[in-house]
Amino acid sequence: METVVLKIGETGADEAKLQLAAQYIRDGKLVILPTETVYGLGANALDFAAVRGIFAAKGRPADNPLIVHIADFSQIEPLVKTIPPELELLAKRFWPGALTVILPKTDLVPNVTSGSLDTVAIRMPDHSAMLEVIRRAGVPVAAPSANRSGFPSPTSAQHCIDDMDGRVDMIVDGGACAVGVESTVLTLCTNPPKILRPGAVTLEMLKEVLPNVTYDEGAFAHLPDDAKAASPGMKYRHYAPKAQVILVHGSAQQLRDYIADKPGAGVLCFEGEEALFAAVPHITYGAGNDPASQARQLFDALRRIDTKNVHTVYVRMASAEGLGQAVYNRLLRAAAFLELTL
Ligand code: TXA
Ligand code: MG
Repeated sequence: METVVLKIGETGADEAKLQLAAQYIRDGKLVILPTETVYGLGANALDFAAVRGIFAAKGRPADNPLIVHIADFSQIEPLVKTIPPELELLAKRFWPGALTVILPKTDLVPNVTSGSLDTVAIRMPDHSAMLEVIRRAGVPVAAPSANRSGFPSPTSAQHCIDDMDGRVDMIVDGGACAVGVESTVLTLCTNPPKILRPGAVTLEMLKEVLPNVTYDEGAFAHLPDDAKAASPGMKYRHYAPKAQVILVHGSAQQLRDYIADKPGAGVLCFEGEEALFAAVPHITYGAGNDPASQARQLFDALRRIDTKNVHTVYVRMASAEGLGQAVYNRLLRAAAFLELTL
């Protein structure tokens, strides 16, 4: 199929473009939309055939459920069995924003959307174009990250074009994503509530509303192959470039010495370390003391290092504080839990 690319935010003609994107969604087509976290591959969440198209375009396993995006709190009611008071508190504090909440679903949500689970994941994204398209379409929009399954999530329209040109009907180009890593996924279906995937809404922030919230055991651990994952996405290899990724604990100098005799090595390092790694292919991903900048640049860095034909990419360890927890989680998965301590 031919993929239409519409750039918004520069010409002032956004309204007609967003109207067209909404029309595409209503017609059951596939539309890549910008959000504040990463780009999403959107379709009408209630349209079985359209949602099946998302799985086909991504090459996504059918048991991996999708997040349903809404623009207004009132859109939740038909999707979930009950609205617990916690959800209202969370919505007031964090929506629109990088928080996805899982609740028991109604029959209105097709099984194809929920990966045959009896729960549904819901998020109100903090991006005016995405919200406007959902509003104008008048339906909730299912949208996984718009990458080919297994690859790093897209944080620019170019990443989406690289992965999805010819596989979707439209790409709405809203520029670079402000956060850069996907939303926090929280389930309210367990007691205590659990974080299945860390994101910009951190454990500490959630504790202000849900004092007993904890991380699910799969959030930072390698689940055995026969384990039942709380979130199907935990089972699959993720965010991975073609090169082998190894997450390195140690100083920049220790890493430079370690790779000195390793042919095919590349490095993901922090700003200011470029000179130290001048002898090997390297890409920076933010500043060592600034997790937000690491989050913004991580997926682009993982994509770019692959253009340098390295065999193994050694990644300087992120700070693992606040938003750094999300960066660390994505790196662990990109590295298939391969960590090296120098
Ligand atoms: O920031 C984001 O969340 C982006 C943007 C586009 O909104 N979306 C995103 O979707 O990251 P995706 O499909 O790449 O990741 C959704 C994750 C998957 O790991 C999936 O398994 C999990 O959420 N998930 C979705 N529905 C679930 C459910 N009912 N129960 C447990 N996990 C669920
Ligand atoms: Mg994804």
